[in-house]
Amino acid sequence: MSIGRTTANFKTLKYWGKRDKTLNLPTNSSISVTLAQEDLRTLTTAATSSSFEKDNLWLNGKEEGIKGDRTIACLKDLRLLRREMEAADASLPKFSEWPIHIVSENNFPTAAGLASSAAGFAALVVAIAKLYQLPQLMSELSKIARKGSGSACRSLFGGFVAWEMGDLTNGEDSKAVEVAPLSHWPSMKAAILVVSDDKKDTPSTTGMQSTVATSDLFEHRINTVVPKRFEEMKKAILSRDFAAFGEMTMKDSNSFHAVCLDSYPPIFYLNDTSKKIIKLVHALNEQEGKIIAAYTFDAGPNAVIYYDQEHENKVLGLIHKYFHQVSGWEKVSDQVAQFEDL
Ligand code: DP6
Repeated sequence: MSIGRTTANFKTLKYWGKRDKTLNLPTNSSISVTLAQEDLRTLTTAATSSSFEKDNLWLNGKEEGIKGDRTIACLKDLRLLRREMEAADASLPKFSEWPIHIVSENNFPTAAGLASSAAGFAALVVAIAKLYQLPQLMSELSKIARKGSGSACRSLFGGFVAWEMGDLTNGEDSKAVEVAPLSHWPSMKAAILVVSDDKKDTPSTTGMQSTVATSDLFEHRINTVVPKRFEEMKKAILSRDFAAFGEMTMKDSNSFHAVCLDSYPPIFYLNDTSKKIIKLVHALNEQEGKIIAAYTFDAGPNAVIYYDQEHENKVLGLIHKYFHQVSGWEKVSDQVAQFEDL
């Protein structure tokens, strides 16, 4: 039996748009931070035995079976790599021919825009790769996780991770690489404001397809804005420049939500509470005369606020003042009347 454990990754430069829907090949490179956080984790165990009747999967205690095309694609690739090893070494047990049992559990709401599918597919790939004793490096395995869910490829690494979009049609160069480990910038913190744990309005895949097909702004984003930002954000991370990192993170979140709004019909992921959080962060930065906090929102209304530990009291203090709960899985109350007084 083998265990894969991953935590959610939060995008600082968004992946939005596919050039190949089956292989999950993106239209732009992206960057995320994988947090070392216990309250956002997926734990997956994998076991194989010739006595198992069939492949099977349990998700949060419920028998789901292996049905999704994406899970099937990941399993197929992992088995292929194991089969190659078995072909080269006849003494190895024929794991690739035996049924596999996968048990996965996550401790955060599924499909609420909190990157649960990313952590789920990444943990699945890691657990099976360990079970099969595959020698491949994480970047190689990230190509398999990518087929499960695009954002999953970045979750194989901790810390600051780039997903290089690549340009081959078979996806062989579309993989995740480490920009820096979390230890490079240990004072970087993130607070998660759960505005809603409802299922997201428009699933990412559907949303992306609609944006690619209908948004006029999209071409500008992927051809002009993101390529430059991708290089600059890596530099900001490497030089631990919070102001530059924060500004680009916020601008990229806004750019992503702008192309969602520019899709036809428009896609709305932010709600009024999200917008109040945006205003609050800008008000705080203005008051400080520099960027000490940065928000980012994925395909949902929940916020991730990045800040440096040295400003923790100021950032969390302010959030506490205007919202009833910070992080954890308590919902941030919609009653933010005091916010209007800012
Ligand atoms: C808004 O990875 O969920 O979080 O590849 O279809 O599984 P699929 O999409 P998914 O999309 C996530 C989009 C995002 C931005 C990001 O991950 O960078």
